[in-house]
Amino acid sequence: MALVHVDVEPSQGPLPERVAAFVRAANERIDAFFEERWKDPIVAFVPSDLALTWRVLDAIGRAKLAPGPVFCEWGCGFAAVAGLAALAGFQACGIEIERPLLEQARRLAGDFELNVDLVHGNFVPDDAGELADCANEFSWLAEGGPDGHEALELDPDDFDVVFAYPWPGEEEVILRLFDAYAAEQALLVTFRGMEGLRVQRKVSAGRPASIPRFDSRPGRRGRNDPPRREQGAR
Ligand SMILES: C[S@@+](CC[C@H](N)C(=O)[O-])C[C@H]1O[C@@H](n2cnc3c(N)ncnc32)[C@H](O)[C@@H]1O
Repeated sequence: MALVHVDVEPSQGPLPERVAAFVRAANERIDAFFEERWKDPIVAFVPSDLALTWRVLDAIGRAKLAPGPVFCEWGCGFAAVAGLAALAGFQACGIEIERPLLEQARRLAGDFELNVDLVHGNFVPDDAGELADCANEFSWLAEGGPDGHEALELDPDDFDVVFAYPWPGEEEVILRLFDAYAAEQALLVTFRGMEGLRVQRKVSAGRPASIPRFDSRPGRRGRNDPPRREQGAR
């Protein structure tokens, strides 16, 4: 297996009203959380650029780049990205190891009436072994805790799109985990700070890099449609 780069041109223009309201609320709540916990910060939590992330998720939906609708945010924090994925028409879920963040995430999704499945747990599969080893002494990747995928009742290869924001220099771990556990043709979207977002697809050697199938926009096949497997697409 290999990961190949997928070119995605972020969508342009003003954000849809509901998306703009969600981004504003998420950023305000995140700022308030940081202020409240300045003496006791959760150091691994840094939010992505939500407006830019929306533009990339929206573009993925419009260009039908994902093989299906199931989206997971690995290490979701406030689950603002999972919320954006839901707004873009995906069936979104998220896994977070820090309970105070998970509480915030559930409140945010609830207040916007977004159907996002959020669980407490670790997204690193139990048997990942050295795939999850970080070179850095201080790693963002939490260890221990319950199995997040088990809590979701999903396996990593059930996801059509995985999103993660690893600390700079630690993206390799996410790439290794995704390459080992994700389904073929699934997309990995990573936020990379100043460099923006990167989209990669898992392919087997010799297969074409881009097999578009799923259009997440409302009116197309979307979050309320039957899972892809029931349609026999995989
Ligand atoms: C850099 S923050 C990104 C938050 C959010 N995804 C975003 O993009 O705004 C990384 C998050 O991953 C969580 N995290 C780190 N290791 C984890 C693990 N092994 N399992 C679940 N969550 C983890 C941290 O607690 C933190 O909330």
